[in-house]
Amino acid sequence: MRILIKNIKQLVQVEEGEPVFWKRGKEAMQSLPFIEDAFLLIENGLIADFGTMKTFIIRKESSQNFDKETDATGCFVLPCWCDSHTHLVFANGREDEFVDRIRGLSYEEIARRGGGILNSAKKVNETSENELYDLALQRIEEAKNSGTGAMEMKSGYGLTPEGELKMLRVIKKLKENSEMTIKATFLGAHTYPLEYRNNHAAYIRLIKEEMLPQIAKEGLADYVDIFCEKGFFSVAESEKILEAALHYKMRIKLHTNQLHRIGGIQMGVKWGAVSVDHLENIATEDIYCLASGHTIATLLPSAAFFIGTGYPPARGLIDAGVPVALATDYNPGSSPGSNMQFVISLACIKMKMLPEEALNAATINGAAAMEVQHQVGSIARGKIANVIITKPVSSLAFLPYSFSTNLISRVILNGKC
Ligand code: NIG
Ligand code: FE
Repeated sequence: MRILIKNIKQLVQVEEGEPVFWKRGKEAMQSLPFIEDAFLLIENGLIADFGTMKTFIIRKESSQNFDKETDATGCFVLPCWCDSHTHLVFANGREDEFVDRIRGLSYEEIARRGGGILNSAKKVNETSENELYDLALQRIEEAKNSGTGAMEMKSGYGLTPEGELKMLRVIKKLKENSEMTIKATFLGAHTYPLEYRNNHAAYIRLIKEEMLPQIAKEGLADYVDIFCEKGFFSVAESEKILEAALHYKMRIKLHTNQLHRIGGIQMGVKWGAVSVDHLENIATEDIYCLASGHTIATLLPSAAFFIGTGYPPARGLIDAGVPVALATDYNPGSSPGSNMQFVISLACIKMKMLPEEALNAATINGAAAMEVQHQVGSIARGKIANVIITKPVSSLAFLPYSFSTNLISRVILNGKC
C-alpha cells in the first residue's frame, strides 16, 4: 500500500539525521523543523520519504500511480499526538461528582467520603472484561478522530487483584487489536480501598505479593505508577512498591505534586522514573531537581482546568531545561476528555507555552514519555505513519488559537486512513 500526500503547505516536525530522543531546553523545545510545499510518501504503514514538491516532481515516482493520493493544498501535516497519560479504561462517568463540585465540594472531600477513584473502582469491579473492552474501544475511536496515534493507559480502577488484572487484560487486548500504539501501566496504588484505610501495609503486601507477580507473569504492564500524594500513598509507602516493581523490571511513572508537595518529584528522579506527572504544586527546588535528572515532566492542564487547581509552571520547567510533555489524563474524575488539541490550547493559553513548545510536548516528548520516540512522534523515515492532515489553516498557531474548532481533516494511523 503506497500513499502519497502532495502539495502540503507545511510538513511539520520533520526529523532528518540523528534520531531525536526528546527535546529539552528552551531552544530545542521552540524548534519545530518543517518543510514548505512538501510531499510525504507512506509505504506499508511506514513513512518512506518526504521532501519538497520541487524535488518530488523530478523523481520518476511522480509519474507512477499510488494506491491513494491526497492533495493537501493549504493544509499542514504533522505527526499524530502522543498522549502519554490516560486512564482510558473505566466503566462509568462521574457527572454526579462534577455537580457536587459545582455545589462547593472539593475533589479531595469527595475522595475522603468514598467517592472519586473508589466510585470508579466499584463500577469496574461490577463490569465484565468484554464490556470494559467495548467501552474502551469507543473511546479509542474518539481519540483517534481527534488525532491521537499513541496512548498510555493505566489500570487503577480495580484496586483488587481481579479488578486490576481485568483492566490490564483489556489494555492488552486493545494493544493487539487497535491501530493505536499503546503502553500499559499498572496503577494498583491509585488509592487505598476502604477496607485497607487503616491497614496500608496489608494493601501494599497485596500489591507486592499478589498483583505484581501475576502481572509480570502475564506480561501485562510496561510501567508501574503510584499516586504519591497526601491522603494517598506516602513516599515511604511508594518506595516499597517501587522496589518490588523494579524487581520485575517495570519502569516507573508517577502521579505526584497534584495537590501537595510531599517529595514525590525527588523520589521519582532518585528512582529513575521515566516521567513524573501532574506537578500543579511545585517549588523552584523541585524544578532544579528535575533539571538535574532524566525524568520527563508530564503536564496535564485539562485536569487542572477541570478540577480547578492551579496550572503547573510550564515556563519555569522549560526555561530550566526540563523535558516537558503534555497529555490528557483522560479519566472520569478529573479530566473526562481525550482531545489533545484542547490540551495544547490550554498549555498555550494558561501555561504560556509557545505553540512550538506545546507541539513538541504533545508529539516527540509525549512519545519519549512512553519510550516510543523511535517509532512515533515525528516525521522521520522508517517511523510508523501516524499523521494528521489539517483542514486548510493560515498558520500553525491557528491550531491552539482555535481552541474549540476541529481543524483535523484526516488522520492516518499505521498508514491507514
Ligand atoms: O490523574 N490523581 C489521580 N488520578 C487521576 C484521577 C482519578 C480519578 O479521579 O478518577 C488523575 O487526575
Ligand atoms: Fe492520571
